[in-house]
Amino acid sequence: MFYHTDIRRSGSGNIGTTNALRTLGKRGGVAVFLLDFAKGFASAFVPCAVLALMHLAPMEPFMNTTSELALQALAFACCTLGHIFSPWLSFKGGKGIAVAFGCLLPILGPLPWILEFMLFLILAVVSRYVSLGSCAAALSCPFMTAAVFPGNLWVIGFFSIGSLAVVWAHRGNIARLLNGTEKPFSVRSKQR
Ligand code: G3P
Repeated sequence: MFYHTDIRRSGSGNIGTTNALRTLGKRGGVAVFLLDFAKGFASAFVPCAVLALMHLAPMEPFMNTTSELALQALAFACCTLGHIFSPWLSFKGGKGIAVAFGCLLPILGPLPWILEFMLFLILAVVSRYVSLGSCAAALSCPFMTAAVFPGNLWVIGFFSIGSLAVVWAHRGNIARLLNGTEKPFSVRSKQR
């Protein structure tokens, strides 16, 4: 709207941060990242906040730690699936990585989140393929979750569903990475 450009018809055609940076430039890319991240953060933060409030009230008979964690993991799965198969975009949404990172912060807490983000950032920066960092972060996410919340199969299951959806959304990128045609990261420079 602001750029008079439909990024679904430019660059990779993806609606995410990487393609916004590629086709709109820094401001557009940062705006897309912040909005996607905020969407994920809000979706996970609301159930987390409700659960925290329930701990202040005598609600323990209705919820236990296992069901709380499962609810938070369900929020992650729903948020990533809802973004990737967005009903507003004829079920052809984005690839879910910024949304997933937004969602993970209130669920995992800062330290595991930073470790996940560092894995993404290091791989993306060193290889210059954002999709490589995205796929590695998505694949490692269920393992990180299992380490933070050990032994909860519901949690691991829901996180696996969300993470595999992110990897599936990157299937075109994975094919291009394997055949050497994936485009390295680029930012559109200002036009004069
Ligand atoms: O998370 C998206 C990124 O990994 C790839 O985006 O536009 O290069 O397909 P794109």
